[in-house]
Amino acid sequence: MTKININEELEYVEKVSKINEGKNLKYNILTMGCQLNENDSEKICGMVEKMGYTKTDDISLADLVIYNTCCVRENAEEKLFGKLGEVKKLKEAKGTIIAIGGCMMQEKHIVDKIKKSYKYDVIFGTHTLHKFPKDLYNAIIENKRITDILDIDGEIIEGLPIKRDDNIRASVTIMNGCNNFCTYCIVPYVRGRERSRSSEDILKEIEDLAKAGYKEITLLGQNVNSYMRVEREKGICTDKINSFAKLLREVNKIDGIEKIRFISPHPKDFTDDVIEAIRDLDKVSKFIHLPLQSGSTNILKTMNRVYTKEEYLNLVQKMKEKIPNVKFSTDIIVGFPEENEEDFENTLDVVRKVKFEQIFMFIYSRRVGTPADKMENQIPEEIKHKRFDKLKKLYEEILAENNKEYIGTTQNILVEGYSKINSEFLTGRTDTNKVVIFKGDSKLIGRFIQIKIISEHMWYLKGEILNE
Ligand code: 5AD
Ligand code: SF4
Repeated sequence: MTKININEELEYVEKVSKINEGKNLKYNILTMGCQLNENDSEKICGMVEKMGYTKTDDISLADLVIYNTCCVRENAEEKLFGKLGEVKKLKEAKGTIIAIGGCMMQEKHIVDKIKKSYKYDVIFGTHTLHKFPKDLYNAIIENKRITDILDIDGEIIEGLPIKRDDNIRASVTIMNGCNNFCTYCIVPYVRGRERSRSSEDILKEIEDLAKAGYKEITLLGQNVNSYMRVEREKGICTDKINSFAKLLREVNKIDGIEKIRFISPHPKDFTDDVIEAIRDLDKVSKFIHLPLQSGSTNILKTMNRVYTKEEYLNLVQKMKEKIPNVKFSTDIIVGFPEENEEDFENTLDVVRKVKFEQIFMFIYSRRVGTPADKMENQIPEEIKHKRFDKLKKLYEEILAENNKEYIGTTQNILVEGYSKINSEFLTGRTDTNKVVIFKGDSKLIGRFIQIKIISEHMWYLKGEILNE
Protein backbone atom coordinates (compact mmCIF):
# COMPACT_ATOMS: atom_id res chain seq x y z
CA MET A 1 0.00 0.00 0.00
CA THR A 2 1.06 3.57 -0.61
CA LYS A 3 2.24 5.14 2.59
CA ILE A 4 2.25 8.88 2.14
CA ASN A 5 4.80 11.26 3.53
CA ILE A 6 3.14 13.81 5.77
CA ASN A 7 6.22 15.74 6.93
CA GLU A 8 5.23 18.79 4.90
CA GLU A 9 1.71 18.76 6.37
CA LEU A 10 3.04 18.40 9.91
CA GLU A 11 5.22 21.52 9.47
CA TYR A 12 1.94 23.42 9.69
CA VAL A 13 1.44 22.13 13.24
CA GLU A 14 4.54 24.15 14.14
CA LYS A 15 3.35 27.19 12.12
CA VAL A 16 -0.08 27.30 13.80
CA SER A 17 1.48 26.80 17.24
CA LYS A 18 3.67 29.90 16.59
CA ILE A 19 0.61 31.97 15.71
CA ASN A 20 -1.14 30.70 18.86
CA GLU A 21 1.81 31.19 21.23
CA GLY A 22 0.91 32.75 24.58
CA LYS A 23 -2.80 33.03 23.73
CA ASN A 24 -4.08 30.24 26.02
CA LEU A 25 -6.55 29.03 23.38
CA LYS A 26 -9.11 26.29 23.93
CA TYR A 27 -10.82 23.73 21.71
CA ASN A 28 -13.96 21.66 21.95
CA ILE A 29 -14.56 18.51 19.92
CA LEU A 30 -17.71 16.50 19.29
CA THR A 31 -17.26 13.00 17.89
CA MET A 32 -20.17 11.17 16.30
CA GLY A 33 -20.35 7.52 15.31
CA CYS A 34 -18.13 4.51 15.69
CA GLN A 35 -14.84 3.68 17.38
CA LEU A 36 -12.95 4.37 14.15
CA ASN A 37 -14.19 7.93 14.29
CA GLU A 38 -13.22 8.13 17.95
CA ASN A 39 -9.74 6.93 17.02
CA ASP A 40 -9.57 9.59 14.26
CA SER A 41 -10.65 12.18 16.85
CA GLU A 42 -7.76 11.12 19.09
CA LYS A 43 -5.47 11.95 16.16
CA ILE A 44 -7.24 15.28 15.56
CA CYS A 45 -6.81 16.07 19.29
CA GLY A 46 -3.13 15.05 19.05
CA MET A 47 -2.56 17.60 16.25
CA VAL A 48 -4.70 20.33 17.80
CA GLU A 49 -2.99 20.12 21.21
CA LYS A 50 0.41 20.37 19.51
CA MET A 51 -0.92 23.52 17.80
CA GLY A 52 -1.38 25.14 21.21
CA TYR A 53 -5.02 24.50 22.07
CA THR A 54 -6.17 22.87 25.32
CA LYS A 55 -9.38 20.86 25.54
CA THR A 56 -12.55 22.22 27.11
CA ASP A 57 -15.94 20.54 27.53
CA ASP A 58 -17.57 23.98 27.67
CA ILE A 59 -18.17 25.01 24.07
CA SER A 60 -18.77 28.65 25.05
CA LEU A 61 -15.10 28.89 26.14
CA ALA A 62 -13.77 27.35 22.92
CA ASP A 63 -11.74 29.27 20.31
CA LEU A 64 -11.88 26.26 18.00
CA VAL A 65 -14.86 23.91 17.68
CA ILE A 66 -14.44 20.63 15.79
CA TYR A 67 -17.17 18.27 14.66
CA ASN A 68 -16.02 14.80 13.60
CA THR A 69 -19.09 13.50 11.81
CA CYS A 70 -20.69 10.14 10.99
CA CYS A 71 -23.18 9.43 8.21
CA VAL A 72 -24.16 5.82 8.82
CA ARG A 73 -27.68 6.81 9.89
CA GLU A 74 -29.82 9.88 9.27
CA ASN A 75 -30.09 11.05 12.90
CA ALA A 76 -26.39 12.04 12.85
CA GLU A 77 -27.19 14.52 10.06
CA GLU A 78 -30.00 16.12 12.03
CA LYS A 79 -27.70 16.37 15.03
CA LEU A 80 -24.91 18.09 13.05
CA PHE A 81 -27.23 20.67 11.48
CA GLY A 82 -28.68 21.39 14.92
CA LYS A 83 -25.18 21.93 16.34
CA LEU A 84 -24.11 24.13 13.41
CA GLY A 85 -27.19 26.28 14.00
CA GLU A 86 -26.21 26.74 17.66
CA VAL A 87 -22.49 27.40 17.13
CA LYS A 88 -23.26 30.18 14.64
CA LYS A 89 -24.09 32.50 17.55
CA LEU A 90 -20.73 31.79 19.15
CA LYS A 91 -18.92 32.55 15.92
CA GLU A 92 -20.75 35.86 15.58
CA ALA A 93 -20.04 36.78 19.22
CA LYS A 94 -16.34 35.88 19.50
CA GLY A 95 -15.06 34.61 16.14
CA THR A 96 -14.86 30.94 17.16
CA ILE A 97 -13.23 28.86 14.43
CA ILE A 98 -15.50 26.06 13.20
CA ALA A 99 -14.00 22.91 11.65
CA ILE A 100 -16.12 20.05 10.32
CA GLY A 101 -14.57 16.71 9.37
CA GLY A 102 -15.31 13.01 9.09
CA CYS A 103 -17.49 10.69 7.02
CA MET A 104 -20.39 13.06 6.37
CA MET A 105 -18.01 15.48 4.65
CA GLN A 106 -17.34 12.84 1.98
CA GLU A 107 -20.96 13.31 0.84
CA LYS A 108 -21.29 16.07 -1.72
CA HIS A 109 -24.91 16.94 -1.00
CA ILE A 110 -24.05 17.55 2.68
CA VAL A 111 -21.03 19.75 1.94
CA ASP A 112 -23.14 21.74 -0.55
CA LYS A 113 -25.81 22.27 2.10
CA ILE A 114 -23.25 23.42 4.69
CA LYS A 115 -21.60 25.81 2.21
CA LYS A 116 -24.96 27.30 1.31
CA SER A 117 -26.57 27.63 4.70
CA TYR A 118 -24.08 27.42 7.58
CA LYS A 119 -21.03 29.16 8.96
CA TYR A 120 -17.71 27.27 9.02
CA ASP A 121 -13.97 27.80 8.51
CA VAL A 122 -12.58 24.39 7.54
CA ILE A 123 -14.23 21.33 6.03
CA PHE A 124 -12.01 18.25 5.85
CA GLY A 125 -12.77 14.62 5.01
CA THR A 126 -11.72 11.12 5.97
CA HIS A 127 -8.80 11.17 3.50
CA THR A 128 -7.53 14.61 4.54
CA LEU A 129 -7.24 14.27 8.30
CA HIS A 130 -3.47 14.88 8.09
CA LYS A 131 -4.04 18.10 6.15
CA PHE A 132 -6.11 19.66 8.92
CA PRO A 133 -3.16 21.71 10.35
CA LYS A 134 -2.42 23.16 6.88
CA ASP A 135 -6.11 23.90 6.25
CA LEU A 136 -6.46 25.54 9.65
CA TYR A 137 -3.35 27.64 9.03
CA ASN A 138 -4.69 28.84 5.68
CA ALA A 139 -8.10 29.58 7.19
CA ILE A 140 -6.46 31.70 9.92
CA ILE A 141 -3.88 33.49 7.71
CA GLU A 142 -6.11 34.14 4.73
CA ASN A 143 -9.28 34.49 6.77
CA LYS A 144 -11.24 32.48 4.24
CA ARG A 145 -13.26 29.29 4.20
CA ILE A 146 -11.34 26.15 3.24
CA THR A 147 -12.86 22.95 1.86
CA ASP A 148 -10.38 20.10 1.54
CA ILE A 149 -12.02 16.86 0.47
CA LEU A 150 -10.35 14.08 -1.51
CA ASP A 151 -11.95 11.09 -3.15
CA ILE A 152 -8.94 8.83 -3.05
CA ASP A 153 -8.49 5.23 -2.06
CA GLY A 154 -5.65 3.09 -0.99
CA GLU A 155 -3.49 5.44 1.03
CA ILE A 156 -2.20 4.83 4.50
CA ILE A 157 -1.23 7.69 6.73
CA GLU A 158 1.27 7.03 9.49
CA GLY A 159 2.88 9.29 12.04
CA LEU A 160 0.07 11.59 13.17
CA PRO A 161 0.40 12.67 16.80
CA ILE A 162 -2.31 11.12 18.99
CA LYS A 163 -3.92 12.21 22.25
CA ARG A 164 -5.69 9.22 23.74
CA ASP A 165 -8.81 9.53 25.88
CA ASP A 166 -7.88 6.72 28.25
CA ASN A 167 -4.62 5.58 29.82
CA ILE A 168 -5.44 1.90 30.33
CA ARG A 169 -7.41 0.92 27.23
CA ALA A 170 -6.48 1.97 23.69
CA SER A 171 -7.81 1.49 20.17
CA VAL A 172 -5.47 0.78 17.29
CA THR A 173 -6.70 1.02 13.69
CA ILE A 174 -5.37 -1.95 11.69
CA MET A 175 -7.18 -1.38 8.41
CA ASN A 176 -9.31 1.22 6.72
CA GLY A 177 -12.17 1.20 4.26
CA CYS A 178 -14.51 -1.54 3.14
CA ASN A 179 -15.05 -3.57 -0.04
CA ASN A 180 -18.22 -5.35 1.00
CA PHE A 181 -20.83 -2.91 -0.24
CA CYS A 182 -23.69 -4.08 1.93
CA THR A 183 -26.58 -2.44 0.09
CA TYR A 184 -27.75 -0.30 3.04
CA CYS A 185 -24.32 1.01 3.96
CA ILE A 186 -22.64 4.30 3.09
CA VAL A 187 -19.24 3.38 4.56
CA PRO A 188 -17.59 2.03 1.39
CA TYR A 189 -18.41 5.34 -0.34
CA VAL A 190 -17.03 7.60 2.40
CA ARG A 191 -14.11 5.54 3.74
CA GLY A 192 -12.89 4.15 0.41
CA ARG A 193 -11.47 0.76 -0.46
CA GLU A 194 -10.04 -1.71 2.02
CA ARG A 195 -6.38 -1.23 2.87
CA SER A 196 -4.35 -2.61 5.74
CA ARG A 197 -1.60 -0.97 7.78
CA SER A 198 1.69 -2.85 7.84
CA SER A 199 2.04 -5.24 10.77
CA GLU A 200 5.32 -3.51 11.63
CA ASP A 201 3.56 -0.16 12.19
CA ILE A 202 0.70 -1.80 14.11
CA LEU A 203 2.95 -3.87 16.38
CA LYS A 204 5.24 -0.88 17.05
CA GLU A 205 2.21 1.20 18.08
CA ILE A 206 1.00 -1.54 20.44
CA GLU A 207 4.48 -2.11 21.91
CA ASP A 208 4.72 1.61 22.64
CA LEU A 209 1.28 1.51 24.27
CA ALA A 210 2.33 -1.45 26.42
CA LYS A 211 5.46 0.46 27.51
CA ALA A 212 3.26 3.42 28.43
CA GLY A 213 1.21 1.15 30.72
CA TYR A 214 -1.79 0.32 28.52
CA LYS A 215 -3.33 -3.06 29.34
CA GLU A 216 -6.16 -3.54 26.85
CA ILE A 217 -6.06 -3.07 23.09
CA THR A 218 -8.97 -2.98 20.65
CA LEU A 219 -7.98 -3.63 17.05
CA LEU A 220 -10.17 -1.54 14.78
CA GLY A 221 -11.32 -1.74 11.19
CA GLN A 222 -14.50 -1.86 9.11
CA ASN A 223 -13.77 -5.49 8.39
CA VAL A 224 -10.91 -6.55 10.70
CA ASN A 225 -10.86 -10.25 9.90
CA SER A 226 -10.07 -9.54 6.26
CA TYR A 227 -6.81 -7.87 7.38
CA MET A 228 -4.35 -7.96 4.38
CA ARG A 229 -6.82 -9.99 2.30
CA VAL A 230 -6.99 -7.51 -0.58
CA GLU A 231 -3.21 -7.18 -0.60
CA ARG A 232 -2.84 -11.00 -0.52
CA GLU A 233 -5.29 -11.46 -3.38
CA LYS A 234 -3.62 -8.79 -5.49
CA GLY A 235 -0.25 -10.39 -4.78
CA ILE A 236 1.13 -7.11 -3.40
CA CYS A 237 1.46 -8.15 0.23
CA THR A 238 5.08 -8.01 1.30
CA ASP A 239 4.23 -8.51 4.95
CA LYS A 240 5.01 -11.87 6.59
CA ILE A 241 2.06 -11.24 8.91
CA ASN A 242 -0.44 -11.45 6.07
CA SER A 243 -3.68 -12.45 7.80
CA PHE A 244 -5.78 -11.45 10.79
CA ALA A 245 -5.06 -14.75 12.58
CA LYS A 246 -1.32 -14.15 12.28
CA LEU A 247 -1.68 -10.58 13.49
CA LEU A 248 -3.61 -11.74 16.57
CA ARG A 249 -0.84 -14.21 17.35
CA GLU A 250 1.79 -11.44 17.16
CA VAL A 251 -0.18 -8.99 19.30
CA ASN A 252 -0.69 -11.73 21.89
CA LYS A 253 3.11 -11.91 22.34
CA ILE A 254 3.45 -8.29 23.44
CA ASP A 255 4.42 -8.08 27.12
CA GLY A 256 2.24 -5.83 29.24
CA ILE A 257 -0.89 -6.14 27.07
CA GLU A 258 -3.35 -8.33 28.96
CA LYS A 259 -6.49 -8.19 26.84
CA ILE A 260 -7.06 -7.98 23.09
CA ARG A 261 -10.42 -7.16 21.53
CA PHE A 262 -11.34 -6.42 17.93
CA ILE A 263 -14.19 -4.76 16.11
CA SER A 264 -15.86 -5.27 13.58
CA PRO A 265 -15.40 -8.61 11.89
CA HIS A 266 -17.61 -9.92 9.07
CA PRO A 267 -19.12 -13.42 9.43
CA LYS A 268 -17.96 -14.36 5.92
CA ASP A 269 -14.30 -13.80 6.88
CA PHE A 270 -14.40 -15.92 10.05
CA THR A 271 -12.04 -18.54 8.67
CA ASP A 272 -10.85 -21.48 10.79
CA ASP A 273 -7.43 -19.93 11.37
CA VAL A 274 -9.11 -16.91 13.03
CA ILE A 275 -11.33 -19.15 15.18
CA GLU A 276 -8.30 -21.21 16.22
CA ALA A 277 -6.29 -18.10 17.07
CA ILE A 278 -9.11 -16.87 19.32
CA ARG A 279 -9.25 -20.29 20.97
CA ASP A 280 -5.48 -20.60 21.47
CA LEU A 281 -4.54 -17.10 22.57
CA ASP A 282 -4.97 -16.39 26.26
CA LYS A 283 -5.18 -12.61 25.90
CA VAL A 284 -7.80 -12.55 23.13
CA SER A 285 -11.31 -11.87 24.41
CA LYS A 286 -13.80 -14.70 23.95
CA PHE A 287 -16.55 -12.13 23.45
CA ILE A 288 -17.05 -11.83 19.71
CA HIS A 289 -18.96 -9.16 17.86
CA LEU A 290 -20.65 -10.98 14.98
CA PRO A 291 -22.90 -8.59 13.04
CA LEU A 292 -26.07 -10.41 12.00
CA GLN A 293 -28.00 -7.50 10.39
CA SER A 294 -30.98 -9.76 9.63
CA GLY A 295 -32.00 -13.34 10.40
CA SER A 296 -33.83 -13.74 7.10
CA THR A 297 -31.95 -15.40 4.25
CA ASN A 298 -33.99 -13.40 1.72
CA ILE A 299 -33.18 -10.08 3.36
CA LEU A 300 -29.52 -11.05 3.84
CA LYS A 301 -29.38 -11.65 0.10
CA THR A 302 -30.77 -8.22 -0.78
CA MET A 303 -28.44 -6.73 1.83
CA ASN A 304 -25.53 -8.42 0.00
CA ARG A 305 -24.29 -10.00 3.22
CA VAL A 306 -23.25 -13.22 1.38
CA TYR A 307 -24.36 -15.64 4.12
CA THR A 308 -27.68 -17.31 4.91
CA LYS A 309 -29.48 -17.64 8.24
CA GLU A 310 -28.30 -21.26 8.46
CA GLU A 311 -24.69 -20.39 7.63
CA TYR A 312 -24.69 -17.75 10.37
CA LEU A 313 -26.14 -20.20 12.92
CA ASN A 314 -23.66 -22.88 11.83
CA LEU A 315 -20.79 -20.46 12.32
CA VAL A 316 -22.02 -19.65 15.83
CA GLN A 317 -22.32 -23.37 16.56
CA LYS A 318 -18.82 -24.06 15.24
CA MET A 319 -17.36 -21.27 17.35
CA LYS A 320 -19.20 -22.52 20.44
CA GLU A 321 -17.75 -25.98 19.90
CA LYS A 322 -14.21 -24.75 19.30
CA ILE A 323 -13.93 -21.86 21.77
CA PRO A 324 -14.92 -22.67 25.36
CA ASN A 325 -17.25 -20.03 26.87
CA VAL A 326 -17.45 -17.95 23.70
CA LYS A 327 -20.18 -15.28 23.84
CA PHE A 328 -21.54 -12.98 21.15
CA SER A 329 -22.72 -9.46 20.53
CA THR A 330 -24.30 -8.30 17.30
CA ASP A 331 -25.73 -5.52 15.11
CA ILE A 332 -29.29 -5.83 13.80
CA ILE A 333 -31.16 -3.61 11.36
CA VAL A 334 -34.97 -3.71 11.40
CA GLY A 335 -37.19 -2.45 8.60
CA PHE A 336 -34.88 -3.03 5.63
CA PRO A 337 -36.82 -2.69 2.32
CA GLU A 338 -39.11 -5.63 1.63
CA GLU A 339 -38.76 -7.03 5.16
CA ASN A 340 -42.06 -8.81 5.95
CA GLU A 341 -43.32 -10.31 9.21
CA GLU A 342 -41.83 -13.70 8.38
CA ASP A 343 -38.41 -12.13 7.70
CA PHE A 344 -38.59 -10.28 10.98
CA GLU A 345 -39.62 -13.47 12.83
CA ASN A 346 -36.48 -15.09 11.45
CA THR A 347 -34.41 -12.30 13.03
CA LEU A 348 -36.13 -12.91 16.38
CA ASP A 349 -35.51 -16.63 15.95
CA VAL A 350 -31.74 -16.11 15.56
CA VAL A 351 -31.73 -13.79 18.59
CA ARG A 352 -33.47 -16.48 20.68
CA LYS A 353 -31.09 -19.17 19.47
CA VAL A 354 -27.79 -17.29 19.91
CA LYS A 355 -28.84 -15.48 23.12
CA PHE A 356 -26.58 -12.52 22.35
CA GLU A 357 -25.02 -10.80 25.35
CA GLN A 358 -25.31 -7.43 23.65
CA ILE A 359 -27.35 -6.24 20.67
CA PHE A 360 -26.87 -2.93 18.88
CA MET A 361 -30.28 -2.37 17.31
CA PHE A 362 -30.86 -0.01 14.40
CA ILE A 363 -33.90 1.14 12.49
CA TYR A 364 -33.07 1.05 8.78
CA SER A 365 -32.13 4.51 7.58
CA ARG A 366 -32.11 5.44 3.88
CA ARG A 367 -28.72 6.66 2.72
CA VAL A 368 -28.39 8.65 -0.52
CA GLY A 369 -26.17 6.83 -3.01
CA THR A 370 -26.67 3.30 -1.64
CA PRO A 371 -28.53 0.59 -3.64
CA ALA A 372 -31.09 0.02 -0.84
CA ASP A 373 -32.20 3.65 -1.04
CA LYS A 374 -33.45 2.97 -4.57
CA MET A 375 -35.26 -0.26 -3.66
CA GLU A 376 -39.02 -0.39 -3.85
CA ASN A 377 -41.12 -1.47 -0.88
CA GLN A 378 -39.50 0.76 1.71
CA ILE A 379 -41.05 -0.09 5.08
CA PRO A 380 -43.36 2.52 6.71
CA GLU A 381 -41.85 4.19 9.80
CA GLU A 382 -44.65 2.92 12.02
CA ILE A 383 -43.93 -0.72 11.18
CA LYS A 384 -40.18 -0.18 11.60
CA HIS A 385 -40.75 1.23 15.09
CA LYS A 386 -43.13 -1.59 16.06
CA ARG A 387 -40.53 -4.18 15.03
CA PHE A 388 -37.79 -2.28 16.83
CA ASP A 389 -39.84 -2.27 20.05
CA LYS A 390 -40.55 -5.99 19.71
CA LEU A 391 -36.85 -6.75 19.22
CA LYS A 392 -35.96 -4.54 22.18
CA LYS A 393 -38.43 -6.40 24.39
CA LEU A 394 -36.94 -9.76 23.40
CA TYR A 395 -33.43 -8.39 23.97
CA GLU A 396 -34.36 -7.28 27.48
CA GLU A 397 -35.80 -10.71 28.27
CA ILE A 398 -32.64 -12.40 27.05
CA LEU A 399 -30.48 -9.89 28.91
CA ALA A 400 -32.22 -10.71 32.20
CA GLU A 401 -31.80 -14.43 31.52
CA ASN A 402 -28.12 -14.04 30.62
CA ASN A 403 -27.46 -11.81 33.64
CA LYS A 404 -28.71 -14.46 36.07
CA GLU A 405 -26.02 -16.80 34.83
CA TYR A 406 -23.35 -14.40 36.09
CA ILE A 407 -24.44 -14.54 39.74
CA GLY A 408 -21.92 -16.53 41.78
CA THR A 409 -19.32 -16.54 38.99
CA THR A 410 -15.80 -15.12 39.27
CA GLN A 411 -14.86 -12.54 36.65
CA ASN A 412 -11.42 -11.21 35.74
CA ILE A 413 -11.92 -7.46 35.56
CA LEU A 414 -9.73 -4.52 34.57
CA VAL A 415 -10.46 -1.76 37.09
CA GLU A 416 -11.21 1.36 35.06
CA GLY A 417 -11.96 3.96 37.74
CA TYR A 418 -14.83 5.20 39.88
CA SER A 419 -18.36 4.33 38.77
CA LYS A 420 -20.70 6.88 37.20
CA ILE A 421 -23.64 4.87 38.57
CA ASN A 422 -22.46 5.33 42.17
CA SER A 423 -19.19 7.10 42.98
CA GLU A 424 -18.61 4.98 46.11
CA PHE A 425 -17.95 2.03 43.80
CA LEU A 426 -15.15 1.18 41.41
CA THR A 427 -16.07 0.00 37.94
CA GLY A 428 -14.82 -2.36 35.24
CA ARG A 429 -16.18 -4.71 32.61
CA THR A 430 -16.50 -8.45 32.22
CA ASP A 431 -14.93 -10.03 29.15
CA THR A 432 -18.46 -9.74 27.71
CA ASN A 433 -18.44 -5.98 28.18
CA LYS A 434 -20.93 -5.92 31.05
CA VAL A 435 -20.38 -3.13 33.55
CA VAL A 436 -19.55 -4.40 37.05
CA ILE A 437 -19.42 -2.18 40.13
CA PHE A 438 -17.70 -3.12 43.39
CA LYS A 439 -16.18 -1.50 46.50
CA GLY A 440 -12.39 -1.18 46.59
CA ASP A 441 -9.30 0.98 46.89
CA SER A 442 -8.40 3.47 44.14
CA LYS A 443 -4.92 1.93 43.94
CA LEU A 444 -6.55 -1.00 42.09
CA ILE A 445 -7.28 1.24 39.09
CA GLY A 446 -5.45 -0.08 36.02
CA ARG A 447 -5.11 -3.62 37.38
CA PHE A 448 -6.92 -6.86 36.56
CA ILE A 449 -8.61 -8.35 39.64
CA GLN A 450 -10.93 -11.24 40.49
CA ILE A 451 -14.50 -10.22 41.28
CA LYS A 452 -17.33 -12.45 42.48
CA ILE A 453 -20.70 -11.34 41.05
CA ILE A 454 -23.36 -11.02 43.77
CA SER A 455 -26.34 -9.41 42.01
CA GLU A 456 -27.63 -8.28 38.60
CA HIS A 457 -29.36 -5.00 37.76
CA MET A 458 -30.29 -5.24 34.06
CA TRP A 459 -27.59 -2.90 32.65
CA TYR A 460 -24.91 -3.63 35.26
CA LEU A 461 -23.76 -6.26 37.74
CA LYS A 462 -22.63 -5.80 41.34
CA GLY A 463 -19.66 -7.75 42.74
CA GLU A 464 -17.14 -8.21 45.53
CA ILE A 465 -13.38 -8.39 45.31
CA LEU A 466 -12.09 -11.90 45.87
CA ASN A 467 -8.38 -11.19 46.35
CA GLU A 468 -6.27 -8.07 46.07
N1 5AD B 1 -29.46 2.02 8.49
C1 5AD B 1 -29.45 1.47 9.72
N2 5AD B 1 -28.37 0.90 10.26
C2 5AD B 1 -27.24 0.88 9.52
N3 5AD B 1 -26.02 0.37 9.79
C3 5AD B 1 -25.23 0.63 8.73
N4 5AD B 1 -25.91 1.29 7.78
C4 5AD B 1 -27.18 1.44 8.25
C5 5AD B 1 -28.35 2.03 7.72
N5 5AD B 1 -28.38 2.59 6.51
C6 5AD B 1 -25.70 -0.34 11.02
C7 5AD B 1 -25.24 -1.77 10.73
C8 5AD B 1 -23.77 -1.72 11.01
C9 5AD B 1 -23.72 -0.67 12.11
C10 5AD B 1 -22.38 -0.07 12.35
O1 5AD B 1 -24.63 0.30 11.68
O2 5AD B 1 -25.89 -2.63 11.64
O3 5AD B 1 -23.23 -2.97 11.41
FE1 SF4 C 1 -20.86 -1.25 5.85
FE2 SF4 C 1 -21.12 -3.85 5.26
FE3 SF4 C 1 -18.70 -2.64 5.07
FE4 SF4 C 1 -19.78 -3.09 7.50
S1 SF4 C 1 -19.17 -4.67 6.02
S2 SF4 C 1 -18.80 -1.16 6.77
S3 SF4 C 1 -21.96 -2.80 7.07
S4 SF4 C 1 -20.51 -2.19 3.83
